[in-house]
Amino acid sequence: MRRAKISVIGAGNVGASCALWAASKELGDVVLVDIPNSVGVAQGKALDLFCASPMERFDANITGTCDYKDVEGSDVVIVTAGIPRKPGMSRDDLIATNVKIVKSVSEQVAAAAPDAVMIIVSNPLDAMVYTAWKASGFPTNRIVGQAGCLDVARFRAFLAMELDVSIEDIQALLLGGHGDDMVPLPRYTSVHGIPVSQLLPEETINACVDRAKAGGGEIVKLMGTSAYYAPASGSVQMAEAIIKDKKRILPCAAYCDGEFGIDGLFVGVPCVLGKNGVERVVQIELNESEQAMMDESASHVADLVNTVKTTFPELA
Ligand code: APR
Repeated sequence: MRRAKISVIGAGNVGASCALWAASKELGDVVLVDIPNSVGVAQGKALDLFCASPMERFDANITGTCDYKDVEGSDVVIVTAGIPRKPGMSRDDLIATNVKIVKSVSEQVAAAAPDAVMIIVSNPLDAMVYTAWKASGFPTNRIVGQAGCLDVARFRAFLAMELDVSIEDIQALLLGGHGDDMVPLPRYTSVHGIPVSQLLPEETINACVDRAKAGGGEIVKLMGTSAYYAPASGSVQMAEAIIKDKKRILPCAAYCDGEFGIDGLFVGVPCVLGKNGVERVVQIELNESEQAMMDESASHVADLVNTVKTTFPELA
């Protein structure tokens, strides 16, 4: 059987962590791509990781490169290229630099691997997904953003800390853009089927919601740069669903064509992920206040996308 091929663009903290999780789960061969003056880093990290494979017992070829020829034939391309946040910055502050990077990367990915599914991780996420869509010319099902997997995992982790139970038993849902106005949904959160509202007081659940929303910022403040293990884990969870055609339901930044009242924007919604990328968006019923939060989050995403369109009219 042919091994799947996963290219990871950007061999920094998130990219290298993606390579590690993807190779160690034997999802396929991994190609780490960076810019020419950083390519020694891509090659070095690829070789270092490959040398771990005899001990960790995984079979995967891992290569570092700056040549998009090596991306040819990729099933999944994870885009992590771009600058991360520093303390005091919001994700939106990255837009001017990262839109240029993601545009150029997406054009090169589209030329090298026209049949791949692209998973975007660079921030500000929802606007970068839009940029990648326009720059690649890919159909909307083959462009998807990683944010919801990470944000919901943070929400689950903080709930598990409060409940003192296994994180495995906590199921939760989260919608909206990857910003401070993301929308965790306690009404759709359960602990092995038990509604979380039966196990924790409302104030504690709300505190977990707030901590999940600000979780990225909490980490930036602690370590001076943005998170990478959990963002990479979210990306690889999505890559696995696609490569293995698992049809998992995961919260992802996907193109909405009227779903949740959102038209023509990539925003975090529950999706079925399989070999075709986003196979469908799963509609759920929202109450008035949940819909109002979703509307606000989507309008923030629309503002960011407008900034992209104004800066790069060719992406409009
Ligand atoms: N092509 C390929 N790689 C690029 C390009 C490009 N055009 N431009 C920059 N890079 C590479 C950098 O050389 C660097 O190795 O992207 C890498 C980014 O790595 P880090 O600086 O460690 O940043 P990281 O923490 O990985 O975050 C990357 O993911 O979660 C988001 O907000 C985060 O936007 C940020 C991105």
